[in-house]
Amino acid sequence: MYFGFSIPMALVEFLAELDQLNGDALAAFQAAGDAAAVEAARIEFLGMKSGRLKAAQKGLGTVDKADKPKAGQRFNQLKQQIEAALEAAQSRLAGGAGASAEGPRFDPTVPGIRPRLGHLHPLTQTIEELKDLMGRLGFSAVDGPEVEDEWHNFEALNIPVEHPARNPLDNFYLATARSLEREQGRKGDSLRVSASPRLPFSPAPLLPFSSSSAAEEHGLLLRSQTSTVQIRVMEKTPPPVRIISLGRVYRPDDADATHYPMFHQIEGLLVDRGITMADLKSVLRLFASSFFQDDVHIRFRPSFFPFTEPSVEVDMSWQGRWIEMGGAGMVDPNVFRAVGYDPEEFTGFAFGLGIERVCMRRHNVTDIREFYKNDARFLQQFS
Ligand code: FA5
Repeated sequence: MYFGFSIPMALVEFLAELDQLNGDALAAFQAAGDAAAVEAARIEFLGMKSGRLKAAQKGLGTVDKADKPKAGQRFNQLKQQIEAALEAAQSRLAGGAGASAEGPRFDPTVPGIRPRLGHLHPLTQTIEELKDLMGRLGFSAVDGPEVEDEWHNFEALNIPVEHPARNPLDNFYLATARSLEREQGRKGDSLRVSASPRLPFSPAPLLPFSSSSAAEEHGLLLRSQTSTVQIRVMEKTPPPVRIISLGRVYRPDDADATHYPMFHQIEGLLVDRGITMADLKSVLRLFASSFFQDDVHIRFRPSFFPFTEPSVEVDMSWQGRWIEMGGAGMVDPNVFRAVGYDPEEFTGFAFGLGIERVCMRRHNVTDIREFYKNDARFLQQFS
């Protein structure tokens, strides 16, 4: 609630507060079943000393001068509406049997209640749209846990213990008394987590840790990439596989215009016989052209990810500008071996794109931090 503060208020916030007040007051008077309830609602909304309408009047004083006429007009209208609601409640109760015989009093001159319509956050809209369009390409959406173990976040993805991506300073490890105990007990081997031998398609849960022993065996961290879900799916499902996974990932990156410590990725994985880089490029191009509803070009730049070979950075060109969207490549045979797939028989591609980046490009948002400020003026543009 902004009312009660003497900070300057934007018109849009003031009007939103009035709408809220209007809805609350009309609901309270309509719900009041006896004289005491009507009186309580009258004091709450129309009380001269500390009624909510009085507080709104003070808020009116802090609206920018240029916006005052519009704000004042809406305030007066609201006052009339609430007074009319009070009168309607009083006459409804006073009327008793006579009133119900005539039916409820209806005053067609009273303006209607404008409902406040909410809408999905732009990132949620993007996620839903991406699921929809990848669904049309035959990819099913799968969820994975955000608290992960090192096996799924690193080990099975061919990221060995000495790899810099596992540096505790570059990840959000969940330190627990138990893991500290374990580290002290195993001097010199503190970060090593043995890759547990897994039978192909053993019932590895998609939810985190069905048993506490799994949690004890592996260090836990907030997942730093959605590639974890590739492993969870392949452990459970024999090939062919054609999935996407969309969700939050966490990295201790400083927030700036293009980075945030928590962001979203879309992961794609397709495994079958005879899959090639040409399939990867076709799918990404279809994906981008459907999302931007335009002819989008895809460019691959050589790169390195431990879990794909070859690996590429994916750039997309839309409206004459190239933009980096994420990483991709052909699934590394070591990953297949870790989940019990035969790399001689199956090949596959995987990609991981930043959802904020895709959404920003589409809507010309220039600062990722806007998504997380919860500023209604920004968010209302996506209704
Ligand atoms: C990965 O995370 C790989 N897992 C992608 C991948 C999947 C490669 C499958 C191969 C096969 P990378 O660290 O480059 O890759 O992140 C992918 C994308 O996430 C980036 O291109 C960017 O769009 C987005 N991203 C990365 N860090 C941030 C951040 N701090 N804030 C917002 N978006 C980010």
